[in-house]
Amino acid sequence: MKRIGVLTSGGDAAGMNPALRAVVRTAIVAGLEVIGIERGYEGLLNRWLRPMDLSSVGGIINRGGTILRTARSERFKTDEGLQLAAQVLRENGIEGLVVIGGDGSFRGAAKLEEVAGVAVAGIPATIDNDIGGTEYTLGYDTALQVAMDAIDKIRDTADSFERIFVIEVMGRSRGFIAAAVGLAGGAEAILVPEIPFDPVQICERLKQGMARGKRSAIIVTAEGAAKAQEVATFVEMYLREEVRATVLGYTQRGGSPTATDRIYGARFGALAVELLLQGKSGMMTAVQGGQVVAVPLRACWEQPRVLDESLLKLNEVLAS
Ligand code: ADP
Ligand code: F6P
Repeated sequence: MKRIGVLTSGGDAAGMNPALRAVVRTAIVAGLEVIGIERGYEGLLNRWLRPMDLSSVGGIINRGGTILRTARSERFKTDEGLQLAAQVLRENGIEGLVVIGGDGSFRGAAKLEEVAGVAVAGIPATIDNDIGGTEYTLGYDTALQVAMDAIDKIRDTADSFERIFVIEVMGRSRGFIAAAVGLAGGAEAILVPEIPFDPVQICERLKQGMARGKRSAIIVTAEGAAKAQEVATFVEMYLREEVRATVLGYTQRGGSPTATDRIYGARFGALAVELLLQGKSGMMTAVQGGQVVAVPLRACWEQPRVLDESLLKLNEVLAS
């Protein structure tokens, strides 16, 4: 193997740049050439390729987002798109491809491996931390830090004004962010897509807290569980208390990567290149049992992650 490509795809996440830096420098030190592909698979189809050298990834370890930019590409999902992508890889002598993204991007990588015969390696990156086969995906810790800092700030005004706040975090279909940051932020209630909730029971629990002297409360909801404003409207009507809603939205996608995202980014990036050098294609870097390992890409969809509901039960007790 002489030349590899690298791209970032799907939802961006802090940690992508540290991973990209590790891919480029590990590969070049090992004697490989590296081609950066801009804007994910769409960039591959448009031949937005550029050679990367050691300096190309200088000064990015502390930057959120991705200097290669990312995109979604419906065209790539078509047979024609896949064939064109394979052709572009062949034209440019790219024998291995590192894909930094989520499970959707890895499904694309697996198809590209099949059609183009190019060796592929995945680096899991999404703030949702919802990729099967790994306990950790790049961006998750930074998103938690951003959301927790926001909750702490909102708690100041909630206490001052003696209000109830409903805070909406990202997580279209999974509640990993909501469960973790709800516990870390000391929320009185946490709503996740995986578990149906009874708004009346939530309100009765808030009422019990107020009866023992609580003058404010925080409810954390994942966007896939319920919209903050809808919850706020119900609680305000039921409890006849002032309730405000805040949507943290895309703030959770930005920010300088935390040490955790930088360290995992570095380790994932180096491992991905090593896998390609060892001729091990169709693998993803992962964390299992706290160890950085390599697992087959198909683990993403064959080993779906399960939310640890004990966090929610623990939070109910600690929020009493
Ligand atoms: P993520 O990688 O964060 O899950 P998406 O699910 O949006 O993000 O996928 C990113 C891109 O990966 C898509 O725009 C598409 O180009 C490609 N992709 C996603 N799913 C598939 C699939 N099943 N087959 C081929 N390509 C796919
Ligand atoms: O990548 C994960 C994620 O941030 C989800 O938590 C969120 O619902 C979604 O992406 C938003 O997607 P987009 O950036 O396309 O609006």
